[in-house]
Amino acid sequence: MRTVISILGIILSPIALALDNGLALTPAMGWLHWERFLCNVDCDTDPNNCISERLYMQMADVMVRDGWREAGYEYICIDDCWPSHQRDAQGRLQADPKRFPGGIKKLADYVHSKGLKLGIYGDVGVNTCAGYPGSQGYYETDAQTFADWGVDLLKFDGCFMNWTSLSEGYVKMSKALNSTGKSIYYSCEWPLYEWIFNQPNYTAIRETCNHWRNFADIYDSWSAVKSILDWTASHQDTIVPAAGPGGWNDPDMIIIGNFGLSHDQQESQMALWAIMAAPLLMSNDLRDICPHSKELLQNRHIIAISQDPLGKQGYCTAKVDSFEVWERPLSKHRIAIAVLNKQEIGGPRKLLISAAPGWKICDPQCNVTRILPQYTELGIQTLQSKLFVTVNPSGTALLTVSPIRGFTNNMHWHDHSVKDKHTVL
Ligand code: GLA
Repeated sequence: MRTVISILGIILSPIALALDNGLALTPAMGWLHWERFLCNVDCDTDPNNCISERLYMQMADVMVRDGWREAGYEYICIDDCWPSHQRDAQGRLQADPKRFPGGIKKLADYVHSKGLKLGIYGDVGVNTCAGYPGSQGYYETDAQTFADWGVDLLKFDGCFMNWTSLSEGYVKMSKALNSTGKSIYYSCEWPLYEWIFNQPNYTAIRETCNHWRNFADIYDSWSAVKSILDWTASHQDTIVPAAGPGGWNDPDMIIIGNFGLSHDQQESQMALWAIMAAPLLMSNDLRDICPHSKELLQNRHIIAISQDPLGKQGYCTAKVDSFEVWERPLSKHRIAIAVLNKQEIGGPRKLLISAAPGWKICDPQCNVTRILPQYTELGIQTLQSKLFVTVNPSGTALLTVSPIRGFTNNMHWHDHSVKDKHTVL
């Protein structure tokens, strides 16, 4: 058993200007086809799972029927492999006519009639990653086509593009989308493709995109989730200050409800994606999802952390005895704390969390709630309190801490940065 003294404050570093399209005040929530459905274009033998208008219409129906929309999930997003291999006579992208007989406009109308929004996919280079037409040379045309169709979000990939032109391409598309006069949420993969050669300019990225991928594609496995967390923790000084209302780091899709994660690991992904202020874009089959995963994905306490209006991304603040502690500042001077047990042998392990001297949030008293593994009010605590959390292997305990009365010294709180002041005993 180890003790963590947690002291968290809010970093005052001024965040750079965000893309000014009025969107992404909190991270996007929705569904994106890629991880689960990939580039399955075989509608003859696999009509239920192929990339076709039917898939998105069914997902839209289920999102309304099963409470997803009510829980906050809003975007239904098409990924790669939707277009025809040829542009039309006017040079416009067109959907594959066999798989999307109604076309994208009709699909967008359908999705809108359900009170949801439609996302589409393109690429800054000459081809998409799966070899469909890219937008290079057609940024204005494609932005206008998407706007004419009523598309609400564009995921813009970075394959088949010289890295030295990435920034120019992403900025041009951002401006082209803006010029359509329609607010279109702009999801970029610019830093992911630039990191290979160069440290990306996050000030420019934040001014250009509503969220951005930094790291490799997620797979349906715990090792993929862990590698994303490791990358994020080791680059947090660079990427966390870039996140805030209008623009967010995107650690990739939520894979809860698929095949690769145990129940504890699913809880870990949900908790950590909320701490990271990540977009919650599920890639799973909502038509067939187990009740446990559904309940976790619709957990309003975790969603409230994800969507907290203060809009600060959390940090990994301690790595001790194969535990990781992650902390996110929340509105109303609250914080969320996630404790991840990274020891994948043995049973549940305990960690002692206590407030450090001078930790104003618990001076004189604070209220602690455990959200995971099971919602429990842990009640009023003081600076003297010693709280144990018990965490299963590869699981996560998620807590919120709220100040009670007497919390007047805001300056003290704001003075400290999470990572500088954290102390581990
Ligand atoms: C890249 C992206 C993925 C997905 C595929 C589609 O690998 O990172 O998220 O969009 O392309 O081909």
